[in-house]
Parts: sequence; structure tokens; C-alpha cells
Amino acid sequence: MTRDTAIAASPCAWWQRGVIYQIYPRSFQDSNGDGIGDLPGITRRLDYLRWLGVDALWLSPVYPSPMADFGYDVADYTGIDPIFGTLKDFDELLAETHRRGMKLIMDFVPNHTSEEHPWFRESRASRENPRRDWYIWRDPAPGGGPPNNWLSEFGGPAWTQDPATGQYYYHAYLPQQPDLNWRNPDVHAAVHTAMRFWLERGVDGFRLDTVHHLFEDEGLHDNPPNPDFRDGMAPILAYTRVHQMDLPQVQDVLAGLRQLTDAYDDRVLIGEVYLPLERIVTYYGTDLQPGVHLPFNFHLIGAAWRASFIADLMVRYESLLPPGRWPNWVLGNHDRSRVASRFGAQNAALACMLLLTLRGTPTLYYGDELGLTDVPIPPAAVQDPWELRVPGFGYGRDPVRTPMPWDKTLHGGFTDGTPWLPLGGSHGDVESQRNDATSLLRLTRDLIALRRRNAALSEGSYGAIESRGDVLVYERVAGSARVVVLLNFSSVTVHTPLVQGQVILSTAGDRAGEHAANLVALRPHEGLICACT
Ligand code: NOJ
Ligand code: CA
Repeated sequence: MTRDTAIAASPCAWWQRGVIYQIYPRSFQDSNGDGIGDLPGITRRLDYLRWLGVDALWLSPVYPSPMADFGYDVADYTGIDPIFGTLKDFDELLAETHRRGMKLIMDFVPNHTSEEHPWFRESRASRENPRRDWYIWRDPAPGGGPPNNWLSEFGGPAWTQDPATGQYYYHAYLPQQPDLNWRNPDVHAAVHTAMRFWLERGVDGFRLDTVHHLFEDEGLHDNPPNPDFRDGMAPILAYTRVHQMDLPQVQDVLAGLRQLTDAYDDRVLIGEVYLPLERIVTYYGTDLQPGVHLPFNFHLIGAAWRASFIADLMVRYESLLPPGRWPNWVLGNHDRSRVASRFGAQNAALACMLLLTLRGTPTLYYGDELGLTDVPIPPAAVQDPWELRVPGFGYGRDPVRTPMPWDKTLHGGFTDGTPWLPLGGSHGDVESQRNDATSLLRLTRDLIALRRRNAALSEGSYGAIESRGDVLVYERVAGSARVVVLLNFSSVTVHTPLVQGQVILSTAGDRAGEHAANLVALRPHEGLICACT
């Protein structure tokens, strides 16, 4: 059976069975020597992604942008920034992705625009401008100063005063990223039109940026002080931001975006939601008012690297999922420390096996298949506005956005010019790992292939989930197919019971076919997938 017919034969949608791969376009492949990755560069590397076996590519934003937040400040929702190429380049990337049986998911940023977006330029021009109400404008507080105590994610007040009218505008992130006013129906219509533009072009869905921020309290109540705040903690933690995010009105907006997307065949909506699990699951919406198909579950990123912690997390997430909703897991992204740095390089293979055997759609961050580590960036070379505005708390994201090392040539084959961020780290490059049967890259590929052909892994339910000391053990079951995953989180060999099974895959790549019964030996940081009867 070919790869595409295997997917077609499944009752699950592609975004349920498939593996999503996040590309940070600035850092994937440069094609014109300016040191910044671009769309033709990604097209050039599609055969690699096809070889790896991923099903869908999600591109961080490639829209025209002044790049104050590296593309998350969008100045035109229906164009491509010249740094990344042209619309023609985009169409070619889309066609070539589809030709290889893969899907393409766009990032979309509905919460805010760039200050250079024509909508905001008009909005700020005068109080009477027809687009004034497209953003959130308020008078200064009675004694002067910002309207209330709300803070920006990226440091400082969430309000900036505009000299033209003396009023303040609200921005959950940078002052260069003014928040749209989703209480205005014209904003809905304009954003829907922009999303339709891409759906008509054939994109397979959207990853919606920071949807929990879409609404703020209309009465502008001050946030209450955080009782757990202590000296030395990041200033943003001084308040509990109850009035600034996760308001019920978000659900109506998501339902509207879902309706729009559902008018097209087979598309997916993913929501970025940084909230506790019990809040994340509300972003699926209800049967009457569906929200996104997949609210990103980031809780693996923040997890303690312990078998018992992960087992509890899996059980808790499953118990919170609304009936019929599909789970998902994210191991790394462009905002958080890389998995090999977070959990240690010795755990990278184990983490990869975990991600690709959990129930639900996995999202893999580019470079994590090589075990890339965070690359230290000297203070003078920092580019990330978050680190520049709030230094010293480990918020900097440059270290996790460094160029993909493709081979051993200068700059790893990423660019002929000077890379916008340095390459670094001690892991191998794509070419060398491809030729090494024991590499993380080859393991990742084997895991993806196994997941694809094994219904218990791609679609199955869980059997038992348990932690036995440092070993995490769980079963995946579909019909008569039963698979047991055993992951040793410790740095010593551990023996753990297994009734009867045959090893399908080890993180070390060397035990396939081994018969396992009674007690299985797991080497330090080793994971095993066993077929069981
Ligand atoms: C979340 C994105 O993942 C992050 O990179 C960005 O800076 C903020 N949203 C603001 O758009
Ligand atoms: Ca380039």
C-alpha cells in the first residue's frame, strides 16, 4: 500500500493520523545568499521532509512585516515578505508540497497586526477615522498614565500612548504589535477575507497565533496582584492576568473561524493556547459551537522529565478531553528551549519516542530530529525583542531559532552568505545523520514510519498507563493490534516486567525482533516499542 492510500483508507483525518513539522522559515534554507531562509529554500528541501516522512508542514509567518517580532507583526495578511520570496514562490512551494503528498499549514496572527499595517496607520490617524475602533484605544487614567495596570508579554505596560490623539492603544505583545478589536464586526469580516485568500489558494489550514489573547475585559479592571510574586521574578508575574486573557468571547470568534474553514474540504485549524490543561480543552468548543480542531497542548514542553510526571500528565489530559475530540502533543517550538537542552542530549531519543508514540497528533520542531541544542548568543548579538526588553530571565528565543545544519560545508549548507544567527552545537548535520543508522534522525524517521503503518500507534486508544519507578509504560491498542511502549528515564539499566512481546524498535536502533518475556532490560535512557499479543 502506498503512503497516500494508507492515509486514505483510515477513518481518521490527515491531521489526526499525521505528524506536523514546524519550519521556522528564516532558518531552514537560504536560496539567495542573504543569510535568511526563504520559500524557494524550503521548496528545495521538500524531498528531505518527504524522506523523513512527515505529513504536514507548518510555516511560521512569511507575510510582509517590519520584523519587529520576526514576522509575528504582520503588515499585510495577503502577501509574502520579499525576504521570503513572492506569492509565486509560495504557490510553487504549495504545489510541490502537495505533489509529494504533504500538507501545508500557514501561521495566522489574528490577535494583532504590525503598527505598519494600513489598518493601524488609519486607526491611529485620528479619533474620527472609520478604522479607529478596529484597535483598542482608551483615554489616559484620570491622573494621567496608562488606563490600567495591564502588562505586556514582552515587558513594560500593555498600553502605549500615541502622540497624534493622546490616547493609549493596547498591545498584548510589543508596542509595534497593536491588538485588533475583536468586538468590532468589521474586524471579523476583514480577517475572514484574509483567511479565505489562503484557503482559496489551497493551503490546508492555519495555526492561529495566541488565541487566548483575543479579548480583554471591556471594563478595564486592574489585574489583581499575584500572591506568589517574589523579588527576582520576572515583572510580568507581578499580577494574575485574569482580565487580560482567556475571556469567554474568544469561543465565538473561534467558532466563526471554524465555520469559515469548514466551508472548505479537509482543512485544519490549530490554536496556540498557553493555558492550564483544563482551560486548553475548552478551545475545542462544543458540538453546537466547535472551536479549533487542535488547541496546541504545550504541557510536554514544561514537563518535569520524570516517568511519574509524564504518566500523570497523560492521564490528566485524557480525562479532560471532551468526548470525540482529538488530542495533540508538542515537544518543541520557536519560543521555548530546545528539547535536547531542556531534557539533556542523552534524553533526546527517549523524548522523540515519547512524542511519536503518544495518542494524538505530534508536532515536531525543525532540527529536533537532529538533537539540535540551544545555541548561546552573545548579548551584543541578541535579536529577539523579548530578550532585548526583558533580559536575564531566560526568555531569549534566538538560541532555538538557529539555522538548520544540512551538511559539513561552511554554514552547514544553510547559506552562501552570512547566516542571520550563528550555527552551533555539537550534534551532527542532516547529511551525516542520514548516513548513520544509529542517529537520532534515523530513529525519528523509523518512528514516523512505524507510527504510519501501525494503527495502534497512529489511531489506537490507550491501555494501561503507569510509571514503575523511573520507567514509563503505556499500551496502545487498535483492534487486535497491541503495542507496549517502555521508556527508561534513568541513567542506569532497569528490568521491568512484560508478559510477552517482540521488540519492534529501540531508541538505540539495535534490538528489533528480540523476544521479550517476563522481564525486559532497559538500558540507561533507552526506550522500547514492543508488539504484544
Ligand atoms: C506566539 C508566537 O509563537 C510568538 O513567537 C510570538 O512572539 C507571539 N505569539 C506574538 O505573536
Ligand atoms: Ca534568503
